[in-house]
Amino acid sequence: MNKIAVLTSGGDSPGMNACVRAVVRYGISQGLKVFGVRRGYAGLIEDDIFAMSERSVGNIIQTGGTILKTARCKEFLTQEGQNKAIENLKKHEIDGLVVIGGDGSMRGAKELISRGIQVACVPGTIDNNLYYTDYTLGFDTAVNTVVNLINNVRDTSMSHDRVSIIETMGAGCGDLALTAGLAAGADVILVPEVKWSIDDVCEKLIRAKKQGKQFSLIVLSEHVCDPNDLAKMIATKTEMDCRAVILGHVQRGGMPSVFDRNLGSRCGAKCVDMLIQGESGAAGMRNGKIIFVPIDDALHGSRKFDADEYILAQRLSF
Ligand code: F6P
Repeated sequence: MNKIAVLTSGGDSPGMNACVRAVVRYGISQGLKVFGVRRGYAGLIEDDIFAMSERSVGNIIQTGGTILKTARCKEFLTQEGQNKAIENLKKHEIDGLVVIGGDGSMRGAKELISRGIQVACVPGTIDNNLYYTDYTLGFDTAVNTVVNLINNVRDTSMSHDRVSIIETMGAGCGDLALTAGLAAGADVILVPEVKWSIDDVCEKLIRAKKQGKQFSLIVLSEHVCDPNDLAKMIATKTEMDCRAVILGHVQRGGMPSVFDRNLGSRCGAKCVDMLIQGESGAAGMRNGKIIFVPIDDALHGSRKFDADEYILAQRLSF
C-alpha cells in the first residue's frame, strides 16, 4: 500500500475534519502518500482528487463541516458511475480509500469493495443510526447543540406559558431526540421506535397543567409526524398555546465536541492501519474501544432502541 485517498460523503457531521486530519497525518507518518477527494463519490467520478500534506489539514481539528466538501451522489448508484470512480482511483494508483459518511455512504463503499477496491469506513453522521457502533461521529456534538437550542426554547416557552414542540433530525432513528430530550428535561419525547397517540400526549399535558405546570416541552424526531400539524392538534384539543420549532441544519454544524474530535481521530488512524494490513470494513466504537468490522456487519441489522432510557425520560418528566 503506497497511496490512499480520503473522502467525506452524505450529510456532514461535526468531527469529520478531525477524522480527515487523522487519516492524512497518520497515513503520512506510516509512509503513505495521501490524497483528498472533493464532494464525496461525485469527486471520485469527476476526478476531483488532489495530493494532501500535513499542512493541508492544519487548523481544522476544531471546525465543523468538512473541508473536503460532501455530496449525495446519485450517479455513483449506477454501474457507469462506479466504473468512472474506479478508473480514476486506478489512474492515480490509489490502493486504498477511507470513506467518512453514514449508511448510504457505506453502501457505496460496499459496492467498491465487491469490485476489488480496498475501503475502510468511518461512521460519520449525527443520526447514530448504525447498529454496530455505540456512537457515530458527530452525534455527541449534535446532542449538545440540540440541548442548548432546547434550553433557549425553554426560556421563551416558560415566559409565554406555551407548549413547544422541538423537531430534531434522526433519519428514522430516535437516538438524537431521546438523548437530547432526556438531557433537556423534555416532558414528552416522540420517536419512530415507540407508538404514541395524540390523546395520550394531550392527556399528559392537561394533567400537568392541572398540577400547576404552565409550559411543556415536546421533543419530536423528524418524520414521526408534521410538527406544525401536531401543534395545531394539541392547541385544539388542550386549549393551550402550542408552537413548533424545526431545528433543521443548525443542529448539524458547529464546533465538534472533545468526544467527536477524539472519535474521529481514533477511527481515522484505525482505518489507515487496517488498509495497510490489507483489510476493508468499518471502524466504530464499542464499550469505549475502537473496533473494525467487515462492511456487511456494519450494514446488517437495525439499531437497538434504548427502551430503558426512554422509560427513564418518561418517569423524570413533570
Ligand atoms: O443523515 C443525516 C441527516 O442530517 C438526517 O438527519 C437528515 O434527515 C438529513 O441528513 C438531511 O439531509 P439534507 O441536508 O440533505 O437535507
